[in-house]
Amino acid sequence: MNKREIKSTLIDYNSLAELDSKYRELIQKAKEAAEKAYAPYSKFRVGAAVLLENDVIIQGNNQENSAYPSGLCAERVAIFYANSNYPNVTIKAIAVTANTEKGFIKEPIPPCGSCLQVMLESENRRQNPIKVLLYGEDKITVAEGIKQFLPFNFNKEMLK
Ligand code: THU
Repeated sequence: MNKREIKSTLIDYNSLAELDSKYRELIQKAKEAAEKAYAPYSKFRVGAAVLLENDVIIQGNNQENSAYPSGLCAERVAIFYANSNYPNVTIKAIAVTANTEKGFIKEPIPPCGSCLQVMLESENRRQNPIKVLLYGEDKITVAEGIKQFLPFNFNKEMLK
């Protein structure tokens, strides 16, 4: 047998002041998006903001449904909008946060597995890592690319 250990790197920041203004703005857009989420069932309002290489910022938030599985996460709402409207523009970064009845989350939340898989497809499609900024009031976690979350992933090479 052979044991494989796969390493990922996540970088934590204690305050927004440590980030470039471009990323502070992106996080602000994600916070604004969270406040406009439609999440009457979970009351967990997630906001995402996607930064394109042409500097356009796309916002998305979770859209729930009384038929629960028909809803969609904030990240996929934003990424699918970006890829629908700007199919040939590279996604540089995505910021994600969430707002609850207690205010903005203190600790950052990672995107769910389905959203990571969708982000991985966008990253591979343009061959450009997507920077991920996960905002919580007490900590901001940053990853340089989706492979930090999915180091052993399913992708188009496996369909050959
Ligand atoms: N949710 C997101 O929008 N993004 C994630 O990455 C995790 C979960 C949403 C889905 C659902 O509307 C609510 O959060 C609770 O799971």
